[in-house]
Amino acid sequence: MDKLVILGAQWGDEGKGKIVDLLSEHYDITVRYQGGSNAGHTVVVNGEKFILHLLPTGILHEHVIGVIAQGMVVDLEVLKEEIEELERKGLPVKERLVISDRVHLVMPYHKVLDALFEKKRGIGTTLRGIGPAYMFKYGRKGIRISDLYDEKRFYSLLEENIDFVKNICEKVFCEKFELDVKEIYEKQLSIFNEIKENVKDVFRFLTRTEKSVLFEGAQGTLLDIDMGTYPYVTSSNSSALGLSNGTGLSPKYFSDAYLVGVAKAYLTRVGEGPFPTELKGELGERLRELGGEYGSTTGRPRRCGWLDLVALRYAVEVNGLDALIITKLDVLDSFEEIKVCVAYELDGKVIDYFPASYTDISRVKPVYKTLKGWKKNTKGIRNISELPEGAREYIRLIEEFTGVPVIMLSTGPKREEFVWLREILKTKRSYS
Ligand code: GDP
Ligand code: IMO
Ligand code: MG
Repeated sequence: MDKLVILGAQWGDEGKGKIVDLLSEHYDITVRYQGGSNAGHTVVVNGEKFILHLLPTGILHEHVIGVIAQGMVVDLEVLKEEIEELERKGLPVKERLVISDRVHLVMPYHKVLDALFEKKRGIGTTLRGIGPAYMFKYGRKGIRISDLYDEKRFYSLLEENIDFVKNICEKVFCEKFELDVKEIYEKQLSIFNEIKENVKDVFRFLTRTEKSVLFEGAQGTLLDIDMGTYPYVTSSNSSALGLSNGTGLSPKYFSDAYLVGVAKAYLTRVGEGPFPTELKGELGERLRELGGEYGSTTGRPRRCGWLDLVALRYAVEVNGLDALIITKLDVLDSFEEIKVCVAYELDGKVIDYFPASYTDISRVKPVYKTLKGWKKNTKGIRNISELPEGAREYIRLIEEFTGVPVIMLSTGPKREEFVWLREILKTKRSYS
């Protein structure tokens, strides 16, 4: 399996980081291809916690080349900090990092705009400047990293953009604008000069390599700009739709890739937007506390609810998934009863699909199937024989409903806490 794609099948934070870390042991290259520092991918290795925002998670394995592909929007200040933090911890990064010369930069003025837009309509963004950076990209006002080779051009692009944002700030929002062109210019250039050697034509690199590649999605399918709960989404294609435009590789390249969606055994979302199975009372709080459901990037409490199989089947279809990996099953260990959404009710009619319209998806009422909880420990189990019958039944229901196999369970945050249900790769390391 030389091409593996791991992506989120829900509203993000499914535990992708943990899974990518685990599986990238078998890969030579790992590629992030969309989003930016809005992502927060948590990995726990030997008791140490790492949260990756811009760097591909696979970089934690010393043999892996990490690639930041063209579909990402990169905040150079965050990138510098992230590289330095890992290097302080003794992990060499610089010599293993490749950054696409086509990536767009997230500038300080994008973060100013993100905060201003949030005041008006409240998507509940991460305030990392992601939406405005993609707006500039598609509005053809963006600055790509390769523009920084030509300092004069970079300065004039910056001047033009800053003037534009200053006007929006002062004239539309009647707010003060205090960013300085020279300061931004110098800061960005100084970081660029430190990482210049890492900037390459990633398209060419990936097209010509014979090595094995793992593609790491950020966010999740339901946050996809086109297929998600628009406008309560992120600004990139965070489903499999982002693979081609995010790398420059033809859809043909991915025809022999194996696509795996990661999903929690329940459901969370952070920020605003429709969430049919959300639990607002005590049960929701219980899931939040047991699951430690607080944002890895912003620390915000995540909204929690029951697993939505209608939404999960939609994610399987949108992405063309070959398989699922289920995480955080252990969080459900103590529940007497577990519910799963198997259909929606809309205007008195039962529907079995995920509606595109915002008005409809905000109004649907979940139709639940109730299962008896297994009330046995699954946390940290490493052997399939330790899986209680009730948990097996839960997994079978997911497989039957979505039509794809669940190949692995994650049974805790640590790298070694997982069980293969159908092994697709042999694990090289013997975990102790
Ligand atoms: P990502 O954005 O998809 O990588 O997910 P996050 O890192 O934002 O959030 C997932 C959280 O769940 C992190 O704190 C992980 O350490 C944790 N986690 C991952 N897998 C499991 C699991 O199987 N069980 C438990 N209890 N926690 C897990
Ligand atoms: P990972 O990769 C969960 C959400 C934000 C907000 C919406 C738009 O860790 O799974 P943005 O800053 O992207 O403009 O915010 O998307 N969001 C995420 N939610 N996990 C993420 O990433 C997210 N990245 C963005 O909370 O609702
Ligand atoms: Mg996350």
